[in-house]
Amino acid sequence: MSQDSINSVLFVCLGNICRSPSAHGVFRDQAKQAGLELKIDSAGTAAYHKGVSPDPRSQKAAANRGYQFADLKARKVTEQDFVEFDLILAMDLENHADLLAVCPNEYQHKVKLMLEFAEQHKDMEEVPDPYYGGAAGFEYVLDLIEDASQGLLKHITKAQQSTKN
Ligand code: 4NP
Repeated sequence: MSQDSINSVLFVCLGNICRSPSAHGVFRDQAKQAGLELKIDSAGTAAYHKGVSPDPRSQKAAANRGYQFADLKARKVTEQDFVEFDLILAMDLENHADLLAVCPNEYQHKVKLMLEFAEQHKDMEEVPDPYYGGAAGFEYVLDLIEDASQGLLKHITKAQQSTKN
């Protein structure tokens, strides 16, 4: 992976009410704890839930682990996101393909899968959509996201150190 400095991260799923706001909320807390100043945001490839708060099931599962992200509001990915963000992380293969289909060639290298950064779940590619399932799905989403967020934090810290040297 490129060691370019990373100052901003956008998390992307389909609706921007379950997986990507969870990743946003978890990662912003982890980054803050690590003392990293980053621009962090999330968005959906679809606009179904524009302006809506994260799904109450995501918020409840995350609150049990100490994360609060009721302040977030769903929005759709924009063309400007590809310019503004250094790293754009898709939750699943469909989100990844949908992003690449609209991303200008010069920015395609910014689009990756969230689980490329997972360390405990190395065999997994996708954070599965929990929307139509039960509470266990929301817990599993958080397991995967917490793991990948930690790996992402290590990756960014390393990239920032190598550009300073
Ligand atoms: P998300 O989950 O992509 O993780 O936010 C979904 C939310 C809503 C829908 C699908 C997935 N939906 O079909 O409305």
